[in-house]
Amino acid sequence: MITAQAVAYSKYGEPKDVLFTHKYEIDDDNVPSDSIVVKTLGSPVNPSDINQVQGVYPSRPELTKELGTSEPAAVGGNEGLFEVIKVGSGVSQFKVGDWCVPTSVNFGTWRTHALCASEKMTKLNNPTQSKNAGKKHSLTVDQGATISVNPLTALLMLTHYVKLQPGKDWVVQNGANSAVGKFVSQIAKILGINLIGVVRDRDNLQALVDELQQEYGADKVITEEQNELRDFSNEVKSWVKETGGDVKLALNCVGGKNATALARKLGQDGLMLTYGGMSFQPVIIPTAVHIFKNVTSSGFWVTALLKNDPELKKRSLDQIVEWYENGQLKVAKSNEVKFDGSDLAKVYTDAVANSKQGKQLIVY
Ligand SMILES: NC(=O)c1ccc[n+]([C@@H]2O[C@H](COP(=O)([O-])OP(=O)(O)OC[C@H]3O[C@@H](n4cnc5c(N)ncnc54)[C@H](OP(=O)(O)O)[C@@H]3O)[C@@H](O)[C@H]2O)c1
Repeated sequence: MITAQAVAYSKYGEPKDVLFTHKYEIDDDNVPSDSIVVKTLGSPVNPSDINQVQGVYPSRPELTKELGTSEPAAVGGNEGLFEVIKVGSGVSQFKVGDWCVPTSVNFGTWRTHALCASEKMTKLNNPTQSKNAGKKHSLTVDQGATISVNPLTALLMLTHYVKLQPGKDWVVQNGANSAVGKFVSQIAKILGINLIGVVRDRDNLQALVDELQQEYGADKVITEEQNELRDFSNEVKSWVKETGGDVKLALNCVGGKNATALARKLGQDGLMLTYGGMSFQPVIIPTAVHIFKNVTSSGFWVTALLKNDPELKKRSLDQIVEWYENGQLKVAKSNEVKFDGSDLAKVYTDAVANSKQGKQLIVY
């Protein structure tokens, strides 16, 4: 028997008020034939996980008594990296020691162990398998535990909607120093797409610009003020003219005036994808840009895109793993908190409170 711990909630609210630790037993000597038992290696706290607990996120797990809670409850968390520790007799796609991530959202990753049907997990190479395959690097726990949201978001936004000509075309993004933004810069570099990143001004701006250009591969980094300055568009036009392409895609996670100025950077028939709203301001596309440049604006939600397309998810995951294994992609580093075996809900509640200072990753 394994005594597992999960961070559960049976009503919606602020995480510190509603999260509780639930202990339950997993009979690992009698694993159903189609199932596996996994132990958690790491799981992060994402903004959407917090919104889910608050009850304000459109995708939510069902509250059930499946884990033996007195009230129907759900386990928090959507992303995580797991190691297979037991395999049911009818399972062929996993063996003990394999690493895996949940196939779909709403798995409930804030827990020490899980017993689940094998199709609920998707296999990733573990370090031994990467080494045996002759790869330069193997996945780290940080990379594996945070692979399903931000890197996939960046990859799919860059590849799924607009055909971009390597060496010629440009993408412009705001929130360029966000975790998603750093993946966008790196993947654009790998694909040969030119990138302009917009960041908010700050005291040590030059250090951030250097980091985004030298470590993450952004071609140009500009401030929100430059982005909003009409005259600055001529500077952008001269960069684009030099490569002979166009600004075909804008990626917006901010909204407000920042997004309006981003849309103005787009060329004829350009597309702006909005995937976040950090300023809580609406997205306004200038009328002339809309009519005369035929610029369109659309939402992007990785959950909705991948929900009915597990093949696209698998292909995208494989691509990200390959780039990590080749050393072409760097993880946007998380703040790692080691679970010491005490009260799991307290660990995640503290991580939620600290998540404004950067992504928190609980490692086990
Ligand atoms: N739609 C999807 O499928 C999807 C998938 C993944 C993520 N997301 C969303 O994408 C966004 C970014 O996620 P993340 O994990 O990458 O975030 P993150 O690493 O926490 O970064 C947040 C970014 O937002 C900027 N920001 C915050 N408040 C701002 C404001 N008022 N005006 C301008 N910029 C502001 C920050 O800039 P400073 O450094 O200047 O504060 C930083 O660049 C979130 O909204 C998240 O929910 C959506």
